[in-house]
Amino acid sequence: MTTSTPQGKAETSLWHRLLDRKLTRRGALGTVAATAAVTLPLRISEAEALSNNGAPVDAPPAPLNPRTLPPFRAIEAGNADTLTLPFGYRWQLLAPWGEVFTADGGEIGFNHDFVGYFPIDMLEGGRSSTDALLTINHEYVNPLFVGGNTRERTPEQIRAEMKAVGVSVVRVRREEGGWKIVPDPRNRRIDAMTEIELTGPVRGSAVVKGATTVRGSVGNCSGGQTPWGTLLTCEENVDGYARAWAGSGYEAMHQGWVTEIDPFDPAWRPKKRTAMGRFRHENVAVTLTKDGRVVGYMGDDMQDACVYKFVSRGRYQPGNRNANRDLLAEGDLYVANFGNGSWILLDYDKNPKLREAKGADGKPLFSGQADVLADARASALAVGGTPVDRPEDIEIHPRTGEVYVALTNNAKHGNYFGQIIKFRENGDAAAPTFLWEVFAVGGPQSGFASPDNLVFDPYGNLWMVTDNSDLGTNPIKAFHGNNAMFFFPTEGPRAGKAHRFAIGPVDAELTGPVWSPDGKTLFLAVQHPGEDSESLDKLTSTFAAKPGTRIPRPTLVAIEGFPGWQA
Ligand code: FEO
Ligand code: CA
Ligand code: CA
Repeated sequence: MTTSTPQGKAETSLWHRLLDRKLTRRGALGTVAATAAVTLPLRISEAEALSNNGAPVDAPPAPLNPRTLPPFRAIEAGNADTLTLPFGYRWQLLAPWGEVFTADGGEIGFNHDFVGYFPIDMLEGGRSSTDALLTINHEYVNPLFVGGNTRERTPEQIRAEMKAVGVSVVRVRREEGGWKIVPDPRNRRIDAMTEIELTGPVRGSAVVKGATTVRGSVGNCSGGQTPWGTLLTCEENVDGYARAWAGSGYEAMHQGWVTEIDPFDPAWRPKKRTAMGRFRHENVAVTLTKDGRVVGYMGDDMQDACVYKFVSRGRYQPGNRNANRDLLAEGDLYVANFGNGSWILLDYDKNPKLREAKGADGKPLFSGQADVLADARASALAVGGTPVDRPEDIEIHPRTGEVYVALTNNAKHGNYFGQIIKFRENGDAAAPTFLWEVFAVGGPQSGFASPDNLVFDPYGNLWMVTDNSDLGTNPIKAFHGNNAMFFFPTEGPRAGKAHRFAIGPVDAELTGPVWSPDGKTLFLAVQHPGEDSESLDKLTSTFAAKPGTRIPRPTLVAIEGFPGWQA
């Protein structure tokens, strides 16, 4: 895709040349509407002209699968300072920032991101849709709202910020009148001061100054859930704290990992999984190979950064939770090459390119596997990983096993709108090669831009939330309005067509969507409402402010009105 910025012609990246080739070939074969409904501006008329899965337009239309239709009437773009939903749907505040929810006065943190739903009876094989432990990630703070100050922080302000990030584990129950937080000994906060163990090749190495345990988890963006009932929280944007929290003991190399937390067992010390690499971890999409190894697909959310796959050494043992909790300590890390559809192993001993890699000064980049993992981005580029346009969330289609990747945008190459791509492994999840294609392209022609978090429903429909933040010169807001949530069928003639389900308040991003198992409740987070406020006197949003106050609050909401999944 050759794109240009409002300022002039943009640099064309390798990734854009690959996209161009893929989309041109699809167009030539006439399969655009039939298989993926790619909606490039120049091809939309062709795509729309082809109805009925590419059959002649005068043929009787094939019946639509009712399970691929949105269960709502799509809404138009908007910019109101509230959460807007289609007719028949309602939301309630469930876990706003600052709410006390633990016995010792612990509060819900700031800027909610990933939300994990763990049925309260999960360890006994249950799937309760009315009682659960939720995990809520708290990605970062807005110092204006948390500390009341944007200049140099006092030690008290630093402490308040360190307590407002990390993860909340919260027991919730559906009672008469709605969802409620309920007391539970497992309710707790993991924050920037919690003791966390390092596991894997980097533990005790020079790159972490010999550390085996570290303090805290920050930048908790999206994440994943394991089959054995633990949370994988992804440490994404961890730069900048060394300066902001100067004097606090914060160590940047102790952050930027995947951290495993057991919501059911507060006595189990959280673990950082260094074998999964250090980069701007967005999320982990977890699955199993045929022989029971655990696979995690991961994105490095940065312009011109890569997509990764981790394959555990050990195998999942149903019912043996203690053994399974160690599975992510050891395994192989791969990076995706989209040019030839292959996974390249990032192993210092097995991949000579890593041993031969040199920096600009002519010195070796890496001296062993700990170095390779600690700078996985440099390792990936050294071995031929393909830099793409901000890989954020990755999710696995529940029926086809295809892996969907949200590429949010890349203003550096004039891509303001992003794409969603998908790939299919040639074999099971540990396969060395894959085939990929484009699922949907953002822009005015498709109505969405900057895809971020993804979640599937059991029928295989994709639900996506957008992140049109931080784009500087931003040509999106005119057609897109506030950040929103969209529904996409993934099969049939409407595959890849976006239907707007929800619109967030001013300056907010919607994050962390997760369903109750029965599909009757959607838990959704509202992150950073009012983020562009210059001061407490000039607030751009008052969303979810405490009664009698005006400061907007990030929050978790519970949305109801869905018909639920039919058997
Ligand atoms: Fe924290 Fe990449 O979003
Ligand atoms: Ca994100
Ligand atoms: Ca984001």
